[in-house]
Amino acid sequence: MSVHAAPAPPLDAPAHRSARLEAQIARDPGAYRILTGDRPTGPLHIGHLLGTLENRVRLQELGVELLVLVADYQVLTDRASARRLPEDVLGQVADYAAAGIDPERATIFAHSQVEAVGQLMVPFLSLVSVAEVARNPTVKEEVTASGGAATSALMLTYPVHQAADILAFRANLVPVGRDQLPHLELTRTIARRFTERYGTLFPEPEALLSAAPRLLGLDGARKMGKSAGNAIALRGSADETARLIRRAKTDAERRITFEPERRPEVSNLVLLAALCRDQAPEAVAQEVGDGGASALKALVTEAVNARLAPLRARRAELVRDPAHLRAVLLEGNERARARAADTLVAVRRLMHTTY
Ligand code: TRP
Repeated sequence: MSVHAAPAPPLDAPAHRSARLEAQIARDPGAYRILTGDRPTGPLHIGHLLGTLENRVRLQELGVELLVLVADYQVLTDRASARRLPEDVLGQVADYAAAGIDPERATIFAHSQVEAVGQLMVPFLSLVSVAEVARNPTVKEEVTASGGAATSALMLTYPVHQAADILAFRANLVPVGRDQLPHLELTRTIARRFTERYGTLFPEPEALLSAAPRLLGLDGARKMGKSAGNAIALRGSADETARLIRRAKTDAERRITFEPERRPEVSNLVLLAALCRDQAPEAVAQEVGDGGASALKALVTEAVNARLAPLRARRAELVRDPAHLRAVLLEGNERARARAADTLVAVRRLMHTTY
C-alpha cells in the first residue's frame, strides 16, 4: 500500500514484530503456513478487501502456504438461526476466489467440516483456566452486553475453538486485525502449555498485522460492517455502490481536506478513494479541493467501482457455475480434513491415547 504522505505513526510492539516478520517471510516464504478466516455473516465488503483479502493474496503470491477458513461454527456464537448459512458460506467462497485467493494453491474450507478441530477442543480446554477465557476482551464484551445469563457456554470457549482452528493445521502465521490479538495470545499459550505437558508438536503462531490504515463505514463513525448498513459489498453493483456513497455522511465545509480527527466522515471517504487508487489521501483531498461533498462523492464512486470492476466480473463468472463453487469448498474441506487428521494422530500419540 503506498500511502506515503501522512507522517507514519510510531510503531508499537505488535507492529514492530509484524514488520520484522515481513522481512523474514520475504526471505523464506516456504517456512510459513498461514491460517486465517472470516465468519460468514454476510457479503464481504471493501473493508475486507483492502484490509485483509489483498494482503492474503500478496502472501500467496510470495509463495506462503495459505489456508482460509469460513468460520461457520462461530456464527452460532452470535446468531440463533443458521438457515442462511449455505448461501452465506458459498457466497464467501465466491468472494475469496474473486479476490484472488486461488483454490488451486490455497485451501478454502469450512471449519465445521473438519472433525479434528472439535476433537482438539478437549485437550486444549484442559490447558486454560475459566478465568483466562473469561478475560478475553471479545468474550467479556459479550458477557457484559447480555448480562451474563444469555451468554452461551460456547461463547466462553470461542477463543479456544479459534486456537484449535489454527493449531489443527500447525499454522505459524496468522494475519489478523488488532481485535484478534488476544485470541492469538491464547493460542500461543495453549501451544506452549501443550509442549510443556506432552512434547513438541505445535509452533507458537505469530500474528501478522496488515499495514493498511483503518477504514470506517460510510457513516464515518463505526467500523464497516454489514449489520451497521454502512458497507460496500464486494458483490454489489456499480449502481448500488453509487447510491450508498451518495447517502454517505459528510459535513458542511466546502473545501475537502484530509483531517481524520476533526472531519472523520469526509476524511474516511477521502481515505477510501485513496486506498482504491493507491494514492496518498492528501493528494485526493487536493484534487477535489473546493468541489465540495458532491465532487468528492463522484470521485469516490469512480475510484471504488474502478477498483472493484475486475473482481466483480470474476465473481459474476464464478456464481454462474454454483457446482464448481461447491466443488472448490468440498475439495478444500477434504484437504483440510486430511491435514487436521494427521495432527490429531500426533496429538494422540503424545498424549498416550493411542491403543
Ligand atoms: N474470529 C475471526 C473473525 O471474527 C474468524 C476466525 C475464526 C479466525 N477462526 C480463525 C481468524 C482463525 C483467524 C484464525 O473474523
